[in-house]
Parts: sequence; structure tokens; C-alpha cells
Amino acid sequence: MSAQSALPSPSLTAPVAQSELNGLLGLIEGLGISRCAQLIADFRIPDALGDDPATAIELAPRVGVNADALGRVMRYATTFGVFEDAGGGRFRHTIRSRLLRSDHPQSLRDYIRLVGPSWPVFGALDHSLQTGRPAVEALAAGGVWEWLSANPHLAKAFDESMTSKSRGDVAALLNAYDFSVFQSFADVGGGQGHLLGAILDHVPSATGTLFDQPVVVDPVRDRLGHRMSVVGGDFFKDPLPSAEAYLLMQVIHDWDDEHAVSILRNVRSAASARGRLLLIEVLLPERPVQESSGPAWPSFMDFAMLAWSEGQERTRREYDGLLRASGWRLARVLPTGGFQSILEATPQ
Ligand SMILES: C[S@@+](CC[C@H](N)C(=O)[O-])C[C@H]1O[C@@H](n2cnc3c(N)ncnc32)[C@H](O)[C@@H]1O
Repeated sequence: MSAQSALPSPSLTAPVAQSELNGLLGLIEGLGISRCAQLIADFRIPDALGDDPATAIELAPRVGVNADALGRVMRYATTFGVFEDAGGGRFRHTIRSRLLRSDHPQSLRDYIRLVGPSWPVFGALDHSLQTGRPAVEALAAGGVWEWLSANPHLAKAFDESMTSKSRGDVAALLNAYDFSVFQSFADVGGGQGHLLGAILDHVPSATGTLFDQPVVVDPVRDRLGHRMSVVGGDFFKDPLPSAEAYLLMQVIHDWDDEHAVSILRNVRSAASARGRLLLIEVLLPERPVQESSGPAWPSFMDFAMLAWSEGQERTRREYDGLLRASGWRLARVLPTGGFQSILEATPQ
């Protein structure tokens, strides 16, 4: 007998377990959690709360909002661990609310603020479901960059959220992999060099080349350390720098298979027979994760990619296929402790 046929026949009066009803209500509540967290980050409420507990009436003038509404927002936030009830209408910090302060060394404030630009884009996901195209194209035919350039305040939040996320990623990567076995690196699609800079700080004898679009690297060219050279170009058609190790962090997930293979082949052409490729990506589980039996974040990331871009998250097997098709062999996969993994590949 299948699991389906074991279910009781639906009727108007047969009781349904409260846990199932709660599970569905939680789906609506997700909306409130995201918006509440975004408000807290946008209005810098954790910055206004010091080490001593405070009431919403005390905090409201510090952040310039209505005290009654602030109390209700903070009361809701305590239900998901951002702030804690300290009695007498006062709130105190928790680890999560401290992580939303802008002065925390591992602050996630800017990353949480990605909810802001995501709001309209996720609202357009019906376009993705109907067409298979990125939701953002329903807002701007040219896609994400066109839409962001038309909405500068959202573009600012988007850029800051990406930088904030990368900071956390880099710390986890440095602990997960021994980069000191290489003396030269090329960070392909390396943005403004945060990963490469951190690796070079970690391996003082090494040198590196940052490769990204001219519009991305030109503004930082003069700010980068003397062991890092900078090349502006197009990773589909321009020759890539030579190096012992090639880093591609969250680059391949931006592209469909055809484009992904094209980038990986270009890297293979630049690498020597002893070269290494380190792909740093979120790995989807091979099968869908059933509720509560594993982390939902990789699947959420893939859902978000559907909204924002033509890219997608992939499973280990799918990355293995892309690497084989482009002259690489997947040697091993290292977890980082975060949601990213390092896929180490050698030339075929
Ligand atoms: C998702 S970001 C990842 C940045 C960085 N590796 C990180 O993880 O923070 C993708 C990067 O690919 C770069 N990129 C996109 N198309 C490119 C192209 N045709 N040639 C070179 N770089 C490109 C973008 O400018 C961007 O910096």
C-alpha cells in the first residue's frame, strides 16, 4: 500500500493534527519573519540597544520610530530569537540580535537586508514558474543588473549584502582548506578581491591574480596589495592568467550548463597539467530534503537563483558532470562548516 492510500479520506469533520495545521500556517508566517528581520536591520534597532535591557519607549527615539509599533515588532522578533524578554517590557540582546549589530566583526546585518531587494523580485516568481525565466526579468527585461541600476537604493543594499555574505564565507574557507600548498592563485570572477586578499594574507609567500570584468576591478586596482595583480577581462573569451591554483567562488552557479562548461574549459586551457581548480559552491543534496531532516538553505538558495538569475545550485553529481565535460576530474569535496563546499579538481 502506498503512503498516499494510507492517508485517511479527507472530510469536513475528521480532525487534522494541529502540527499539520501549524506547518501550513508557518508558510504564511515566513513572510512576517523576513519582513520583521529586515525592519530590525534597516532601522538599526540592535545598534540602539546596549548591554543593558531597554524598553521600546526608551529605544524608539534613538531609532526615530513609533514606540508602540517598535514594541510589537520586537515582541515578534523575540519569537525567532532576535532579542529576549527581560521583564517589565524591556528587551535584551541575544547572540542573534548582536549579529545584527553593524559593529559586530561577523555582522550579518547587511546580509539580512537582502530581504529588501528580494521582496519585489520574489513577488514576480510566478513569471519564473510559468516561463522558466528569472523572475527579475518581469521587472526589467534586461534582468538583474538592469533592474538594480534602475533602483539605486536597492542596488546599494544588494551590493552590501553580497559583501557581508562573502566575509563570513571567507573565514570558513580559510579554516577548511590548506591554501599554503600553492604559491600562486588566480581568482576568476573574484569580484573585488576579498577571497584572494584573505588567502594572500594567510599565505605570505604566495602571489595572486584577480580576474573579473573591468567595471568590477578597475575601481579597486590601486587599493590592492603588491602581491596581487589585477586583470580585467571576459572569462568566456579572454585568456586567463596562469597560476598553480584557480579559485572560482560562486561563479559557476550564475550560469546554465553551456556557459558553465565554457568558463571551466577556459580555465582548463590556462592551467598547467599540475594545476588545481577549487570550485567553491553551495551543494544541493542529491534528493530533496524532507521537512526538518536536513538543512533547507541549499534548496532555498536554488529557489532564490530562480528569482534572480539564469543560474542554479547543483548537486555534487551535476558538478562532476560539468567538470568532466570541460577537461577536469573531480578529486575531492571538502565541506567548509558553512553551506559552501570546496570541489577540488585536477586536469583530466
Ligand atoms: C556571484 S559573483 C562572485 C564574486 C566572488 N567570486 C564571490 O564569491 O564573492 C560573480 C562574479 O563573476 C563576475 N563575472 C560575471 N561575468 C563575467 C565575465 N564575463 N567575465 C569575468 N567576470 C565575470 C562578476 O563581475 C562577479 O564578480
